[in-house]
Order: sequence, then structure tokens, then C-alpha cells
Amino acid sequence: MDKNYWIKKSGQDGNIIWRPGRSLGLKGAMGRIGNIARNVEEILKNKRKIKILEIGAGFGRALLELKRKYGDKVEVFGTNYEKDWNQKLTNEYALDQGFKKKDIPKIYMGFDAGKKLSFKSSSFDFVFCQATMQYISDRALFIEEVNRILTNHGLAVLELQEFRDDHPKKYKKMVEIWQDKKQIDFLRYLKKFSNLKIKKSRGRDWHYLIIKKSEGFKLNLKLKKVINVEKISSKYWGIKVLYELR
Ligand SMILES: C[S@@+](CC[C@H](N)C(=O)[O-])C[C@H]1O[C@@H](n2cnc3c(N)ncnc32)[C@H](O)[C@@H]1O
Repeated sequence: MDKNYWIKKSGQDGNIIWRPGRSLGLKGAMGRIGNIARNVEEILKNKRKIKILEIGAGFGRALLELKRKYGDKVEVFGTNYEKDWNQKLTNEYALDQGFKKKDIPKIYMGFDAGKKLSFKSSSFDFVFCQATMQYISDRALFIEEVNRILTNHGLAVLELQEFRDDHPKKYKKMVEIWQDKKQIDFLRYLKKFSNLKIKKSRGRDWHYLIIKKSEGFKLNLKLKKVINVEKISSKYWGIKVLYELR
């Protein structure tokens, strides 16, 4: 990610102002990927204790809120790409925002989700990702990898951000699939897989993906091109990716 994001500032009365876009929490998740607390409750019906991972956790607000809500029934983990977005920062944020030390998630920083994920298969019961996938280069690999790290009855919800109407025509579709010089619609392609479900993010141009663990699931897409549209204009968001059907 190239945009020069500030992390925190000093307010007038000496308080810390935390960058709001990095602390979306459960409320922020609602419009983007639905009611994730409800997802957690569904999974808890079949398992007494579950592991939760957020890819692109920011300050970890959503994880902190889940931990505060479900206590010992959940273990929470998060990842961030930037080295500054580390455990120390999450600890500082959590305590400043009135969360308890015991609710603080473990944060893996320097984590690039466009590569094979550094977690063992069947590690997490619930994986979620909000306001992040637009920065991940190989999104097809990411979807497959999230499926791999899910436990047997695991579930994932990922905000796709596959379309941005505020971009010029050339960059509105943020994911393209091509076969023999013909374009295949990305969402229609995903709908072919019985373990995937697509839902609309509320009040946004794009959708989110629900993944139910499926052993050996492959999207059969080969990454051909990656275009960082933020380098073309600072008004644009994320990375556009082009795939070829294998
Ligand atoms: C706008 S923030 C989202 C904040 C967070 N979801 C929240 O609720 O506060 C974007 C997130 O994407 C992560 N990110 C950026 N590039 C990434 C990459 N290549 N792989 C994985 N995560 C990435 C950043 O570290 C950051 O956590």
C-alpha cells in the first residue's frame, strides 16, 4: 500500500486521535460484510471454543469487540501489512479505548495476503476481511488460502471490493478474468462454486464473499497482471488484477 496513511495524531486536549479508517469494528463491518457477531454465534453452536482471524485488522477493533462479547469462547488473531501496525500499536489502541488487556488480539505484522498464507491448514474457525482485499495482489490465491486455513465446519466472509464506480471506466472492474480473449464476469464465475456465496455490501458498489470450507477447492485462475491504480491517481483505490482461466 503506497498511500501515506497517518496512524494517530494528538488532539487539542492531548488525547490521541486514531485514524478512523483503521478501526472499523463490528459496526463498520455490518455494511461491508454483514453481521459477523451472528456468524460467530452460529459457529459457536457447534463448537465450545473457536479461533478467529481478521486479515487486515487495522487497530484490531472488530477483534477486540468480539473478544469482549464472547470472552473465553473465542481466541482472536489479526494481521497487518505495514510494520508500524504491530502488536505494540494494537496494545496502545486497546488500552486507550478502554478495552481490557485480556481482550487484546495477537497481531501478525508484515503480513502479505497475496502469497501463500503462513498458517497451517485447518487453523481457524472464522476468518473475516474488511476494507483490505483491494490491496491484495493475488486475490484468487487468497480466496483459496483462506479456504485452506479454515477448519472443517469453518466459515469466512471477505469484502471483495471488485467494483468501484468512482473510478474511470478502465478501472471500475478491479478484477477481470479472461479466456481466449473473451472476458468472463468475476462474480458469475465465483457463483459456479457450491462452497461460495456472494452478497452485496450495503450502500456500496461491491460485494462480499462467504466461503464454507471445502477440501481441495481451487479457483483455477492464473494471475497475469497487477495494476496499482493508486500510482495512477491518489484518488483511486487499491490494486486491479487480471486473471486467465487455467
Ligand atoms: C483500510 S485498512 C482496514 C482496517 C481494518 N479492517 C479495520 O476494521 O480497522 C486496510 C488493511 O489492509 C492491510 N493490507 C494492506 N496491504 C495488504 C496486503 N498486501 N496483504 C494483507 N493485508 C494488507 C493493512 O495492513 C490494513 O490493515
